[in-house]
Amino acid sequence: MMERPDYKRYTVTSALPYANGPIHIGHLAGVYVPADIFVRFLRMNGEDVIFIGGSDEHGVPITIKALQQGIHPQQVVDKFHGIIKQSFEDFGITFDIYSRTSNPIHHETASAFFKKMYGAGQFIEKVSQQYYDEATGHFLADRYITGTCPHCQYDKAYGDQCERCGTSLNATDLINPKSVLSGNAPVLRETRHWFLPLDQYEPWLREWILEGHKDDWKTNVYGQCKSWIDQGLQPRAVTRDLDWGVKVPVDGADGKVLYVWFDAPIGYISATRELRPDWEKYWKDKETKLVHFIGKDNIVFHCIIFPAMLKAEGTYILPDNVPANEFLNLEGDKISTSRNWAVWLHEYLQEFPGKQDVLRYVLTANAPETKDNDFTWKDFQAKNNNELVAILGNFVNRTMVLTHKYFEGLVPQQGELTPGDQAVLHEMKQIPSRIAISLYAYRFREALAEMMNLARLGNKYLTDNEPWKLYPADKVRVATVLHISLQICAGLSIIAEPFLPFSAAKIRQTLNLPRYPWKDALLCNWLEPGQKLNPPELLFEKIDDETIQKQVQKLMDTKAENASAQAVTGLKPAKPEIIYEDFTKMDIRAGTILEAEKVAKTDKLLKLKIDTGIDHRTVVSGIAAYFKPEDIIGKRVSILVNLAPRKLKGIDSQGMILMAENTDGTLFFVTPDEGVQNGGDIK
Ligand code: 2FM
Ligand code: ZN
Repeated sequence: MMERPDYKRYTVTSALPYANGPIHIGHLAGVYVPADIFVRFLRMNGEDVIFIGGSDEHGVPITIKALQQGIHPQQVVDKFHGIIKQSFEDFGITFDIYSRTSNPIHHETASAFFKKMYGAGQFIEKVSQQYYDEATGHFLADRYITGTCPHCQYDKAYGDQCERCGTSLNATDLINPKSVLSGNAPVLRETRHWFLPLDQYEPWLREWILEGHKDDWKTNVYGQCKSWIDQGLQPRAVTRDLDWGVKVPVDGADGKVLYVWFDAPIGYISATRELRPDWEKYWKDKETKLVHFIGKDNIVFHCIIFPAMLKAEGTYILPDNVPANEFLNLEGDKISTSRNWAVWLHEYLQEFPGKQDVLRYVLTANAPETKDNDFTWKDFQAKNNNELVAILGNFVNRTMVLTHKYFEGLVPQQGELTPGDQAVLHEMKQIPSRIAISLYAYRFREALAEMMNLARLGNKYLTDNEPWKLYPADKVRVATVLHISLQICAGLSIIAEPFLPFSAAKIRQTLNLPRYPWKDALLCNWLEPGQKLNPPELLFEKIDDETIQKQVQKLMDTKAENASAQAVTGLKPAKPEIIYEDFTKMDIRAGTILEAEKVAKTDKLLKLKIDTGIDHRTVVSGIAAYFKPEDIIGKRVSILVNLAPRKLKGIDSQGMILMAENTDGTLFFVTPDEGVQNGGDIK
């Protein structure tokens, strides 16, 4: 083992993606490729490691998707869990388990965790005012509510977090809050919840993170934590009024579930329980190193809230490191699912079959390790053609082809070594330790560059020595040059494994080599003279301009579609689907305005007397800014007659007049055709 620090095992987790859509290159670059490189390396280096993944199947992202599609949340998660799991397998992400939070074992684990904290008095129970959508009858938290972020003024911040500045929010922090369900401004209503008193953990968090991890956590992670702690931590509700999720396991909590960010990280523990009977040593033994791979929007949950929960529960270890990445943009723009601004993994594989390693390479070389980074198709092409094809592929291919040509595919004998040969072998021996140091420090770009340095070294060695010019005059020298080149190929098959597993397997197959442990990367003599090689197989192929142009065009089309959809309509998006029975609950009739007058002390309201055919009734309507009372007497209208009466400015309003609104805010009555008598049913 190399550079092995002082602990017994690793628990490596990667953020559980919401099972509400497929995954894209941003997910791979930010979380799963670096986590997989790390874990593959640890396994090769003889570490005891488990790699945990799974789908996050609760929370508002799931229920909103279900509402939009008019299906049950379980159907949403069943569909996307399968798609996501498949994408991970396709890209060689080697989880020891890929689980899901709708599994019974997870409900049981999360429930027990809550109960233990509850029993120990770790929560504050309080009745508070929460936003409520009167039109749909839902309490609004998290992504059910949007508004302006009080910190950066972003106008699409969610009730739990601002995705622009990363600040974690409570719904009541939002300026101009709006219900995602109805588009209406919400009202406040009382409800009872359980809160984690994060403020009480502040001194401990200061000591543990700000003093304890100043030097080993990444600056972006440490910086975010410091800024949150310095702003002052507030108690945070860990339960919600929803029916999809882990039921709150205490009496009197009907209709309430655990907050998704309370249950999801416990999902790492549930998955470990599912994986191994001896799971406890991976979570409770101080000699286990717990590492969370996440994107930057998850930092507060993994560095502050989950550790506070683990500490409160009392029997678990805390994360040793949280190597969060920044974001990957696409062609200069933020990746966005709703705008379809993404490269989806399943689509990439249809268009670039067998080229998983190319994407793994480009995403690692360009990983957003210290700042946001950009993925462009031009750069993808350049990295493929100028690095993978021209350096790594070219070197391995030339070595194999020449060996087949001059030595019938048998490893030739190494002769006397020149100082140049010795320098190359010496350099080759340094590289595995340098990679190991970079990987243990979570510097994946640097580690990948070191791996490519070995390919560069080999390529240069072959070009400098030009064996094709020495053959057949100096066959002994040619044999030595190819012997050393083959050893370099073998070395590459070992050290490329964490980064480019599919290509490493191809090199091993051609050289007839087994999988070696990392320590054997130092040997430099894996091949015996006379050993038979298999026919060469191309590792990478050039990607032409036309193929790249097609991808660029696809994105340009998306951009154009988005722009025209906005410019042409300027209309609000459609509301979530409802069923026919929802519509038939409304009793809408044709009517006539008999009287109209302004309501005293308001600019907005008119008091109308309406002939509904059934009766004459009073309706208060917010249309005073648009219509003069005298102009609308005698006007035909459509009226919702079974709306529960409401008191407005002391007047009982018994129904609602239907209005149509243009994008510029102008209002019109929805007037029934002349032939319809008052009381005629509108359906
Ligand atoms: O941001 C997300 O996609 C979350 N589903 C990540 C959860 S990570 C963990 F806590 F499960
Ligand atoms: Zn913000």
